[in-house]
Amino acid sequence: MAEGQADRWALLRTQYPVLRRYAYMNCGWSGPLSDPVVDAMRRRVELETWEGPVSKPAMEDKQVTTARLRELTARMMNADVDEIAITGNTTEGVNIAVNGVELQPGDRVITTTAEHGGGIIPAYWARERRGAEVALVSVEPDDGHGAILERFDQAIDDRTKMVILSEITYSSAQLLPLRQIVEMAHARGATVIVDGAQTAGHVPIDVHATGVDAYAIPSHKWLCGPDGIGMLYVRRDRIADIDPVKVSMRAAASYDFDGHFEPQRDKVTKFEVSTMSTPTMAGTVAALETYLESGVEETWDRVRALCRYAEARFDRIAGVDLTGPRAEESRTGLFLFKIPGVDPAALTSYLHGEGDVIARSVKQRESVRLSLHVYNNEAEIDHTAEMVERAVREGVPASYVEAAARALGE
Ligand SMILES: Cc1ncc(COP(=O)(O)O)c(C=O)c1O
Repeated sequence: MAEGQADRWALLRTQYPVLRRYAYMNCGWSGPLSDPVVDAMRRRVELETWEGPVSKPAMEDKQVTTARLRELTARMMNADVDEIAITGNTTEGVNIAVNGVELQPGDRVITTTAEHGGGIIPAYWARERRGAEVALVSVEPDDGHGAILERFDQAIDDRTKMVILSEITYSSAQLLPLRQIVEMAHARGATVIVDGAQTAGHVPIDVHATGVDAYAIPSHKWLCGPDGIGMLYVRRDRIADIDPVKVSMRAAASYDFDGHFEPQRDKVTKFEVSTMSTPTMAGTVAALETYLESGVEETWDRVRALCRYAEARFDRIAGVDLTGPRAEESRTGLFLFKIPGVDPAALTSYLHGEGDVIARSVKQRESVRLSLHVYNNEAEIDHTAEMVERAVREGVPASYVEAAARALGE
């Protein structure tokens, strides 16, 4: 890594207060807030507090913030501003697209065995409520892109109307070959809806190049923005034929109280419902600015370099298995490992309690997952590896096993 670049990451690191105490490696669940993000949110809250939330300066600021949010999101995703809707989170974005696309009983919906609940539950509800058939493509960490594409090729047939997938899977930590899957799906007339919970702020996204129909992202994970806000890209020529499922005035082109109503069909804002939180938009703008200034390609290179460093370091620990993808094209900044026979939730709790390392467990893979972002460094990975060596040597004390059993979710 070039010296100037190393300095930039070291400087960036100083902006995240949580890192003064913890090796925070869980942005795949929720990223830490930085000083600029908190300052932006604070400024907006103070403006609302002292000027009133619908005063002229606050309304003007809201307009500017909303426009800037669309502009930066579009820039990050290589979309146009009028293809970006503001949502509550990734799952809401996926729901908007899945439930807005027409489905008839017997139509096929394809998804994968590595989806988060935010992708697979909307698919199952499409079966429950609309009589769609759901088929799952198996995705395993050892699969290279060739094997994955072969399985999609077999699964997507002429009855397939929709493909729902994560571009980066949260459980197996893999980057999937999105562009080729979209090509395949479109050739057979299917809509592709992407769960981008693990991608925004992590991997370069290019919705125009991939041709995807809809792509949902959050603010609060790799972008390190606040929670309660996400963004949804809908390809311009698909906006009109995806119906909004929750509607507000933004979904009306015109209406009156004599029964006249003309639906808004063409504007992506029809998917937005009523009042949205401006402090969270302001925080997301600051998070996007940080990410875009850091460099999208530079970030992607750095997180994979950290992952490779972790692989090399953890590979030397006898009694630890690496459980993430090994194929170069599938690698990301998510790193997975396990100590066979040790509950990953207990190990996660041990790392937190004994080592000030914040990670998460992934039940499906019986693994611990480290989300390695650009604000992390090699010293934190070494420290985590030493804690894991200690756990192998001495075992995980019963108190952590009990704490894991009591923990709320993973
Ligand atoms: C792949 C994936 N999809 C969806 C979600 C849920 O994200 P959100 O809270 O933004 O809906 C997560 C969260 O971990 C995830 O990893």
